Amino acid sequence: MTARTATPLPLEVRGVTVRFAGLTALDDVSFTVAPGSVHALIGPNGAGKSTCFNVLSGLYRPTAGAVRLGETDLTRLAPHKIAALGVARTFQNIVTTEGTVADNLMLGRHALSRAGYLASALHLPRAAREQREHLRRVHEIAELTGLAPHIDTPVAVLSYGDRKRVEFARALCLEPRVLLLDEPVAGMNAAERARTAEVVRDVRESLGLSVLLVEHDMGLVMRLADEVTVLDFGRAIAHGTPEEVRRDPEVLRAYLGTGPAGEEDAA
Ligand SMILES: Nc1ncnc2c1ncn2[C@@H]1O[C@H](COP(=O)(O)OP(=O)(O)O)[C@@H](O)[C@H]1O
Ligand SMILES: [Mg+2]
Repeated sequence: MTARTATPLPLEVRGVTVRFAGLTALDDVSFTVAPGSVHALIGPNGAGKSTCFNVLSGLYRPTAGAVRLGETDLTRLAPHKIAALGVARTFQNIVTTEGTVADNLMLGRHALSRAGYLASALHLPRAAREQREHLRRVHEIAELTGLAPHIDTPVAVLSYGDRKRVEFARALCLEPRVLLLDEPVAGMNAAERARTAEVVRDVRESLGLSVLLVEHDMGLVMRLADEVTVLDFGRAIAHGTPEEVRRDPEVLRAYLGTGPAGEEDAA
């Protein structure tokens, strides 16, 4: 089982509105993640970035609007269906605490497994073969993400940065077309941040996937993103290249008092 030769497809967000009791978390938001691009979603706290990820990954149903991957409407699909179609995510907070790195990456692979848990529990030959193929791919992805030296290490004893990297690698194990990264470098030190930026770039180049990135580290956004969408109070107030949005008057207003968006933690 080699990497899926993923057809690059645009991820389109069209007029998405999400209302919680009395609060509009997203208000008619539209943007497109171009195939093979790194697209950043930025904005102050509470702007609606995580809500947007929750819609894209199927955890929230929007009140209005649609999400499409190529021709496929994802809007009403369950999270596992969306993941199977090639949209994988990481969470803002680390969810991994048990097992080794390899165990955690295998969990990502099992979401792809045709033989499934039952067959592997029964030790069917095909399941054993698939298991070996999954393990081989897990080692490749560990190599790609710099986790190879830790492959048999329990995640509980890894550094914070390495554990964030496990989340990232596990999402990659789904062979996604589009990878949604919610604050991948939050809580990391400078060296870990630089390393993660490198990994995101490598992965995009070697696997040809698109990345939608929510990130507060404006330096990282400026270095990595091809295109940026800025959310403020649930509305998309600007789109453009990192250079364009950092000079946009509306964006400067949203980041009130911080001057041109470009300083660390300006978001
Ligand atoms: N499940 C929920 N129920 C009610 N309000 C929510 C829920 N999730 C998010 N919100 C609210 O929606 C707004 C956007 O939140 P969020 O998407 O987490 O922002 P961000 O990730 O940009 O910081 C906030 O006002 C938040 O309190
Ligand atoms: Mg958030």
